[in-house]
Amino acid sequence: MNKRDFKFDKRADKYDDHFEGRLSRKFYELLYRYTNLSQGSKVLDVGCGTGTILKTFSEFESIEGHGIDVEMNMLKVAKKKCPNMDIRECSCENTPYEDDYFDLLTACMAYHHFPDKDSFEKEALRILKPGGKIYIADPNFPHPIRKILNFLCRNINGEFFSSDEMTERFEKQGFKHIGTYKDHYAQLVILQKTV
Ligand SMILES: C[S@@+](CC[C@H](N)C(=O)[O-])C[C@H]1O[C@@H](n2cnc3c(N)ncnc32)[C@H](O)[C@@H]1O
Repeated sequence: MNKRDFKFDKRADKYDDHFEGRLSRKFYELLYRYTNLSQGSKVLDVGCGTGTILKTFSEFESIEGHGIDVEMNMLKVAKKKCPNMDIRECSCENTPYEDDYFDLLTACMAYHHFPDKDSFEKEALRILKPGGKIYIADPNFPHPIRKILNFLCRNINGEFFSSDEMTERFEKQGFKHIGTYKDHYAQLVILQKTV
């Protein structure tokens, strides 16, 4: 398992109500607005953290919810919040799910943390059904700020990509770009598996 990011575990109990949880609301809102859920949709939230997205999705629609994360204390909170879902410790590059299983994948404020993005993108392609969609909500920094942050923080906090860069990466794997939505510092990129 590829674990790089242990810092969330230390503040898992406070995550939702403190700075990061509040900052995340803009990202959550984009996901809640643009994610197409149907009854019985098989949904995997990658880097699910404390499970807020899965819980909220399940209030909108009766879904089959799955969440993975690498930090145990975040997962403990998620399991309490989503007691009837499959919430498990697992890194994003190597999951136990069958080929072509999910209708949709989400990654909220998590993609920039993933240490091996190539492997994650291949894994997303493997476990999504043909026609399935991935929704990536991640920070939207202006170009110069992103470059500086990536230079300073790449080994601490991950690497940030523009929506065009994310799209290009996923298109190389066999995804089609469906849409990009932005709201101040948040962006949502939606891609569909075409193969
Ligand atoms: C900023 S938190 C976001 C949590 C949640 N998605 C939300 O928006 O509330 C990022 C999460 O990604 C998880 N993460 C980091 N690297 C990961 C990996 N390789 N595989 C799965 N999850 C990972 C972290 O443990 C953390 O819980």
